[in-house]
Amino acid sequence: MGIHIGAQPNPIRKHQQLKDPQPLQSKSVATKIAKKNNRTIEEQIVHADNLTLMQSMPDETIDLIYVDPPFMTNTTRATTNGPNYNDKWAGGIEQYREFIKVRLIEMHRLLRNTGTIYVHVDPRVAHHVRLLLDEVFGVESFLNEIIWSYRTGGVSAKWFSRKHDTILAYAKCMGKHTFNTQRSGTYRTDGLKHDESGRPFKQTKKGRLYFHQDGPVVTDVWDIPFLSTVSLERTGYPTQKPEALLERIIRASSRSGDMIADFFCGSGTTLAVAKRMNRKWLGCDASPDAVEIAQARLDRIKIAVETA
Ligand SMILES: C[S@@+](CC[C@H](N)C(=O)[O-])C[C@H]1O[C@@H](n2cnc3c(N)ncnc32)[C@H](O)[C@@H]1O
Repeated sequence: MGIHIGAQPNPIRKHQQLKDPQPLQSKSVATKIAKKNNRTIEEQIVHADNLTLMQSMPDETIDLIYVDPPFMTNTTRATTNGPNYNDKWAGGIEQYREFIKVRLIEMHRLLRNTGTIYVHVDPRVAHHVRLLLDEVFGVESFLNEIIWSYRTGGVSAKWFSRKHDTILAYAKCMGKHTFNTQRSGTYRTDGLKHDESGRPFKQTKKGRLYFHQDGPVVTDVWDIPFLSTVSLERTGYPTQKPEALLERIIRASSRSGDMIADFFCGSGTTLAVAKRMNRKWLGCDASPDAVEIAQARLDRIKIAVETA
């Protein structure tokens, strides 16, 4: 089990509690951990309301934040063998906006000047969260509105089936932020000539134009499959995201050894990928089930195998 800070209620009670957070005892616990670990809490999964944890952390200690907060679906999602995930908001959109905004302010403070934040939402709340990010990070710090397109079961007869999430990326300081261009996929080469060794090229006035060997540059529309029901990656956590999504984000916006945080870590997808990619990591979740699942997942990854 990860570190526990304060008593954690279920998500409904947790949201209601936000008006009256009780950070004092938690703060001292988190500060102790932070001091012990060289000013930041590294390689821990903290069981807490993330606001309490973040408020206890020093400025500018994180290189990359990815968060996948509740989407205000007003549902409880369950899996056959996993825990329930409750996303009901008695106070409606105003309560949701306030919940997100206070946390974005802390995340902005925690990021280093070279840092980037990715906020994963869905079309129900993307426009609200984007305006909040504009407010907290500044319109000039906007990097991308990434469309994660996937195909899952279930279609609608009343509108086009909603098969994408939105991931909003903002820099802490535009221009200073880390960004490594990503390439993936194949070029359209139909109708092109091929050279003596079979490589396709475009004939231009200046000569032959060859394609990059790693494929085209990745754009802001990402076609990454959702986890299948039988995927080996599945942990049983209802809102688990695919590792391939996090791999792309971590490769693009961090370097080996950087500190990566996910303050709504759920089953620990971000942390697992960060660990494998030789990054430092910090996770937090208010659900004891999530922390337990994430901790077990991280424990299974014994060695960091990749140096970026
Ligand atoms: C959409 S899920 C994250 C799923 C995760 N990306 C994954 O791949 O498993 C959102 C998580 O946020 C957690 N959460 C909600 N409110 C929180 C809060 N105030 N502090 C910490 N965690 C919170 C929930 O318990 C849930 O696990």
